[in-house]
Amino acid sequence: MSTARKVMSAVMKAIRVSEFGGEEVLKLQTDVPIPKPQINQVLIKVFTAGVNPVDTYIRSGAYARLPELPYTPGNDCAGIIHAVGDNVKQFTKGQRIYCMRGEGTYGEYTVSDEEFVHPLHDNLSFSQGAALGVAYFTAYRALLIRAAAKPGESVLVHGASGGVGLAACQIGHARGMKVIGTAGSAEGMCIVSRNGASKTFNHKEDGYAEKISEYTDGEGVDVIIEMLANVNLATDLTLLKTNGKVVVVGNRGSIEINPRLTMAKESSIMGCMLWQMSKLESQEIAAQLEVGAEQGWVKPVIGKDFSLDQAQDAHHLVINNKTTTGKIIISMP
Ligand SMILES: NC(=O)c1ccc[n+]([C@@H]2O[C@H](COP(=O)([O-])OP(=O)(O)OC[C@H]3O[C@@H](n4cnc5c(N)ncnc54)[C@H](OP(=O)(O)O)[C@@H]3O)[C@@H](O)[C@H]2O)c1
Repeated sequence: MSTARKVMSAVMKAIRVSEFGGEEVLKLQTDVPIPKPQINQVLIKVFTAGVNPVDTYIRSGAYARLPELPYTPGNDCAGIIHAVGDNVKQFTKGQRIYCMRGEGTYGEYTVSDEEFVHPLHDNLSFSQGAALGVAYFTAYRALLIRAAAKPGESVLVHGASGGVGLAACQIGHARGMKVIGTAGSAEGMCIVSRNGASKTFNHKEDGYAEKISEYTDGEGVDVIIEMLANVNLATDLTLLKTNGKVVVVGNRGSIEINPRLTMAKESSIMGCMLWQMSKLESQEIAAQLEVGAEQGWVKPVIGKDFSLDQAQDAHHLVINNKTTTGKIIISMP
């Protein structure tokens, strides 16, 4: 009997969602069948799972693409390969990996297509591995692929204290950009400055945008990576240099802007959606993150580590956090 077949008889602990709704619909179950990898998939023994804001949008039923009920939440995780499908050649049982698109990572096991799985560098812990998939691939795409930011350019990471923001600061700094970051607390600002920003501002302070403008001698910045566009987009347009670009990564509603502000400076507003990433981009990013882990500039910061039975608390925090200090993760029992 193959390894994949043997584990099928077993069950695992996992979070299940049987109806869309508030945090209370996240239920810990101990009898969830361990999934079986398809021919191009791997079965992962999950040690840690990343908690992303999108997990809460999906759980509440407010997201454009919803899974069939019941489902296990979560996309990214770190762990070891437990079994491989018949066509998988690049992974072997026991290998340390991280994954950016598991089919439900809030559980002891998950399956994923092999293209979304990457070796986890020895310099990174499993906790750090859970913070790589969604946040780092998004930050890299936003900064280096969508905005095509260059060494020497100035970048404002507007909302830098979270998973994507800290990744953008580390990547921008490593690529020789002048990084400015914002956070909503003193602790958040401190972490942002320790992770590549040469200057930080508090986005909850009155007049902080004017201070950013003064800091750039009124010239503005080349690129803005925006985590809350429905609040900041109008301001962002005043903070750009000529030919500057705003990349919308996060947005939770509507905002009125004056399009005239884009004319004189010929500025661009562009969206960024991780799942639009091509296979080639994914390979490029994974290779660059491997180099970053080797050289030490890819170093995910964990803000809070919950246990699996605290998944409801993890969801509450990721969407209500007022003092973000890195990525929120869940560790398996
Ligand atoms: N487009 C995509 O493909 C994609 C992929 C991943 C994530 N996202 C989205 O990007 C956003 C960030 O994701 P994440 O994983 O980094 O979330 P996170 O870890 O929860 O971080 C949220 C960030 O937003 C900041 N923030 C709060 N109020 C702000 C304001 N008024 N102005 C600017 N920033 C503010 C927070 O700072 P303080 O707490 O310090 O105030 C924190 O730095 C989320 O909306 C998420 O859904 C999009």
